[in-house]
Amino acid sequence: MRAAIRRSLQYKLRRSSSSARRARKRSVRHTRIIVTHYGGPDALRVVEEECPEPKDGEVRVRVLAAGVSLPDLLMREGVHPETPRLPFTPGWDLIGMVDKLGGGISGIEPGQIVAALPISGAYAEFVCLPQRELVPVPSGLDAAEAVSLILNYVTAYEMLHRSAKVRSGQRVLIHGAAGGVGSALLQLGRLAGLEMYGTCSSPGASAVSDLGGIPIDYQHQDFVKEIHRLTSEGVDVVFDSIGGTHI
Ligand SMILES: NC(=O)c1ccc[n+]([C@@H]2O[C@H](COP(=O)([O-])OP(=O)(O)OC[C@H]3O[C@@H](n4cnc5c(N)ncnc54)[C@H](OP(=O)(O)O)[C@@H]3O)[C@@H](O)[C@H]2O)c1
Repeated sequence: MRAAIRRSLQYKLRRSSSSARRARKRSVRHTRIIVTHYGGPDALRVVEEECPEPKDGEVRVRVLAAGVSLPDLLMREGVHPETPRLPFTPGWDLIGMVDKLGGGISGIEPGQIVAALPISGAYAEFVCLPQRELVPVPSGLDAAEAVSLILNYVTAYEMLHRSAKVRSGQRVLIHGAAGGVGSALLQLGRLAGLEMYGTCSSPGASAVSDLGGIPIDYQHQDFVKEIHRLTSEGVDVVFDSIGGTHI
């Protein structure tokens, strides 16, 4: 008799714990933003769905902050060369907290703060990414402040130090100097000891000079003539995100 009661209790416990597991699994949902068609802000929709599960080699990250950049907008409009197929979740860069580990993951723990540059997908509560794409973030940083460093500063750093290989004392011209990448170039360029000139419209002039650049108002001045007037010899390096007739 006792054995029968024990078996029945064990069965009930097993049943209730597996239904609790199912309920927990059902209740893990998240929201993300999708681009439904290429266009303006009306192309964005919020969807709620099952939380993604990390596959082998992946880590599920709870997004704490996602960057908003010009490339995100260009992708939403469908004009960026790396635009994903519709529908997609925008979000080039993120700071997040490790939430769940997929199979075969070691060397990273739930709760750890990480940065990533997935190119798309960061406008979500949770995102699953390969472990190799995650970079640990020093503790104590504000997530929104830290995320501002990822896309624009990685781009600026690579252009300065990997492409142009700038040296202290060199003279550089930065187009769009008051923008996201431009202001990152100015800040990193100042650390590298560069002499910097930056094109911008007049409202951006004070930001450019505050960051150590000499502003050139591209809307009212011919920047080529202005560079020759200011330097007489021209510059060593030009960082140009505008293209077209500039080149
Ligand atoms: N990894 C990558 O390859 C990567 C990463 C990030 C960005 N990008 C690219 O870099 C470019 C800039 O991005 P961003 O995030 O810095 O954009 P942003 O913050 O919108 O800045 C762009 C700046 O361009 C300036 N501008 C517009 N027309 C100009 C002209 N004719 N001459 C000089 N300046 C002009 C604007 O200056 P005013 O407001 O002063 O008029 C604006 O501040 C984009 O093409 C983006 O796709 C590439």
